[in-house]
Amino acid sequence: MSKVIIMDHPLIQHKIGIMRRKTTSTKEFRDLVSEVAMLICYEATRELPLADIEIETPLVKTIAHEIAGKKLCIVPILRAGLHMADGILNLIPNAKVGHIGLYRNEETLEPVEYFCKLPVDADEREIFVVDPMLATGGSASAAITLLKNKGISKIHFLCLIAAPEGVKRLTELHPDVDVYIGALDERLNEHGYILPGLGDAGDRIYGTK
Ligand code: URA
Repeated sequence: MSKVIIMDHPLIQHKIGIMRRKTTSTKEFRDLVSEVAMLICYEATRELPLADIEIETPLVKTIAHEIAGKKLCIVPILRAGLHMADGILNLIPNAKVGHIGLYRNEETLEPVEYFCKLPVDADEREIFVVDPMLATGGSASAAITLLKNKGISKIHFLCLIAAPEGVKRLTELHPDVDVYIGALDERLNEHGYILPGLGDAGDRIYGTK
């Protein structure tokens, strides 16, 4: 069963509150995407395994800890996920980054892959798929299916805002994937937008509307 972790940290709630306002500028919105992604990532990496290493402080030898194994790979779903990835890279600068691009087939309404580029050793890494808005869950589920079809198994999903409909679909289709959510909203409207939400995350990050 998926773990669904909804952040209750005051900093995250405060920053998401500013993001929701329609008067928030593109620059401020973009900075907040990056900051909130970093804060969510802090929680999402809580259970990463550590290895002991011997080091020398200026005074003595001691045992310190480092993240064990092949480390991480961040996979933003284009285009809105890109800025979340940038924020997380501030925290984990050595992570590798893969990209997945999906568009919606207007007849079937299902997501179709148009771009996928991953590190060659992605299947040995802990993968963090990022997309600001988990709305219907279609893109997130399709991106994760695509990764699994390439033999990747250690997958987490991070978003800023989720609708219950998206959480249900994602966790039913991928019960092995833990989901980290900045805020869980009420529902989707008839156009697939999250309410109360924050509008179109990609447009607000890039100022395209
Ligand atoms: N994508 C967005 O950017 N916003 C929503 O509300 C839903 C999907």
